[in-house]
Amino acid sequence: VSEQPVRLALVGCGYWGPKVARAAASVPGVTVAALVDRQEDLARRLQVAHPAALVATSLDQVLDSVDAVVVATNPATHTEVAGEAIAAGKHVLVEKPLALSSADCRSLGQQADAAGVVLMAGHTFLFSPAVQLIHGMITAGDLGEIYYVDSQRLNLGKVRQDVDAIWNFAPHDVSITNHWMGGAPATVACHAYEYLQEGIADVATMNLEYGGVAALIQISWLSPSKVRRMTVVGSEKMVVYDDVADTVLVHDAGIDRQRVDRSFADFNSFAEFRLIHRLGDVHMPRLAGTEPLVAQCSHFAECIRTGARPVAGAQEAIEVVSVLEAATASHQAGGARVDLPGSSRPALTQ
Ligand SMILES: NC(=O)c1ccc[n+]([C@@H]2O[C@H](COP(=O)([O-])OP(=O)(O)OC[C@H]3O[C@@H](n4cnc5c(N)ncnc54)[C@H](O)[C@@H]3O)[C@@H](O)[C@H]2O)c1
Repeated sequence: VSEQPVRLALVGCGYWGPKVARAAASVPGVTVAALVDRQEDLARRLQVAHPAALVATSLDQVLDSVDAVVVATNPATHTEVAGEAIAAGKHVLVEKPLALSSADCRSLGQQADAAGVVLMAGHTFLFSPAVQLIHGMITAGDLGEIYYVDSQRLNLGKVRQDVDAIWNFAPHDVSITNHWMGGAPATVACHAYEYLQEGIADVATMNLEYGGVAALIQISWLSPSKVRRMTVVGSEKMVVYDDVADTVLVHDAGIDRQRVDRSFADFNSFAEFRLIHRLGDVHMPRLAGTEPLVAQCSHFAECIRTGARPVAGAQEAIEVVSVLEAATASHQAGGARVDLPGSSRPALTQ
């Protein structure tokens, strides 16, 4: 375990980079040592908040002065920038999506393993106290048998030109549901719609199947209201996680199947089960005040110091990016159900 401070270079000082730099700088034992952006003025502007940091227009100019690199550039450049950092023996935290193909995620993972450095994906919501609380309830069996998960991530948001709404938003929904379900889904189906730019979906619905559990995901950057809400429906309880309100509501509610004992032969034609509504209390657990982005930076530093495996490493990134690839393939095939590699059925079955 090393006690040396971790000196970070941030590559990409656009919209998200400054937020990561602020979060990283608040973690004890971490210093923001370099700010890198192709557009030098963006790095210079951010230097006002981090006066001790070097400014550069490419990562190679500052590699000698840092121990680790945070990649917050446009997703299309992630593989190249992360690869350069790993080749120089630096630990890397790459914003979501780790790369634009699962093959690139795998290759980066192999390079990081060979170099003995930490490779972490910025699956920020895994550090949300609400997501962690619900994970604990699911794994403890508090919700009973999980039936389905429903997720909506909508806003009138930043419309990207480099990736569509699926690749921009769904890494969040998918990383959370994969975490809750303990792995990748077996099948993915996706319908997506383009209104503003040709070839770049603004709106999408995705159906993921984790064995018998369905995850229904709806995303859009072309919606009047900001909605980030996930519902987990189990046989015992139902949970609603509202990330905008920062609340988790646990509903002790459900519909139970009650066997009807029919003693008269005449009743044989009636249904065997009666459905009984159960409406109990609603609890609102207190959530820890931890900021997910700060917790993510802190976890990265801890993995660097201790050599621990990150909660979101190459494997988790492959499992997220495989779903995004399958969603794109499904959308291009008119919404066909796509099996993920690893499942036994042939790809692209309706
Ligand atoms: N975890 C989250 O919640 C979250 C939220 C928003 C964005 N992000 C991710 O952060 C990343 C950046 O998103 P953004 O919205 O800030 O994009 P952005 O376009 O605003 O900024 C990207 C910056 O990277 C710079 N850049 C690109 N390639 C470079 C290179 N090779 N070397 C140096 N600089 C380079 C660009 O000049 C630009 O300033 C994306 O991967 C995005 O998905 C994550």
